[in-house]
Amino acid sequence: MSDKYTPHVFEGENKHLRSTIMSYPDRGPWGDKNFRGNVSGYVIRDLISNYFPTSPPKQFIEVFSGGGTGQDVCQDLKLENTLHLDLSTGWDALTDKLPAPSDLTFSHPPYWDIIKYNQLRKGEFQANDLSNKMPYLEFINKLDCINEKIYLNLLNNGYHAILIGDIRRKGKYYSPIKDMAWFGNLKDHFIKIQHNTKMENHAYNKNSDYTRILHEHLLVFQKKELWNIPLKYVHNTNLEMKKLKRVSWQDLIITFLQQRNTGVKFEEIINFTRTIANTDNLEEIEMMIGKELKSEIFIEQKGLWFLTSK
Ligand SMILES: C[S@@+](CC[C@H](N)C(=O)[O-])C[C@H]1O[C@@H](n2cnc3c(N)ncnc32)[C@H](O)[C@@H]1O
Repeated sequence: MSDKYTPHVFEGENKHLRSTIMSYPDRGPWGDKNFRGNVSGYVIRDLISNYFPTSPPKQFIEVFSGGGTGQDVCQDLKLENTLHLDLSTGWDALTDKLPAPSDLTFSHPPYWDIIKYNQLRKGEFQANDLSNKMPYLEFINKLDCINEKIYLNLLNNGYHAILIGDIRRKGKYYSPIKDMAWFGNLKDHFIKIQHNTKMENHAYNKNSDYTRILHEHLLVFQKKELWNIPLKYVHNTNLEMKKLKRVSWQDLIITFLQQRNTGVKFEEIINFTRTIANTDNLEEIEMMIGKELKSEIFIEQKGLWFLTSK
């Protein structure tokens, strides 16, 4: 059947993907157009066509297939070996095995709990739904488990393309692609423009200070090594500024003046500095700070030091 495979080409351009910006103002005829959070079928069509320009993937898998967009696209492209997996079709990404190794897996997970699929899905409550209310880091940990499973299931040279957006919650910005682990080699990073989205977040009213998020990320990872796994993972920490290796005396004085929020005597700066300096030699410290305070960043008025920009 592979002779009937019909990857899409943009006419006159001989390209399957135009650039790293994906913008499809209409979502195309594929899948359930009323399924909340569905993806434009053009994304899946162009991805498959781009990474498999001449012959079809041996096995295409869609994880989180939702409203059937991927299935319809695959039928149009005349792909034979495709699997479309979702809780709503009885397959749980957290507990179930992938049914076959794949050379292209497309996954489109829930964007944390922005759309709560348990509330939309008919049938009993699914405790493993990734869109259930849970702390953000729990969501990321679960996503990591699924991404690892998808990566391990790839055939050598196969791809995992994951589409996921950023979220603003109570004024805080969350970007799952920057917090999740990355398995494999990053082959491409597309920015997909969001069109016609229902505004989920009431923060985006006309009086809001927040900038609307109108893009999603599509990361494509490739497996290039069988046993060795390139892995990038994020470690969040808070370090005391004074302990940073490259912190300068200028940085410290600026921060000290902001903390005090008023004019500060030379002696106070020295006393503060003595708690951090590697030397007890007062003369040396005074000389060093005196030199720093000569900068135009600082200004002295009636024996008190201020930030010039204040
Ligand atoms: C963003 S939607 C996918 C939309 C789909 N791409 C479309 O175009 O219609 C996320 C999907 O993840 C599914 N889901 C959530 N948790 C899951 C889990 N643990 N295992 C499998 N599917 C899950 C939901 O049922 C929902 O259909």
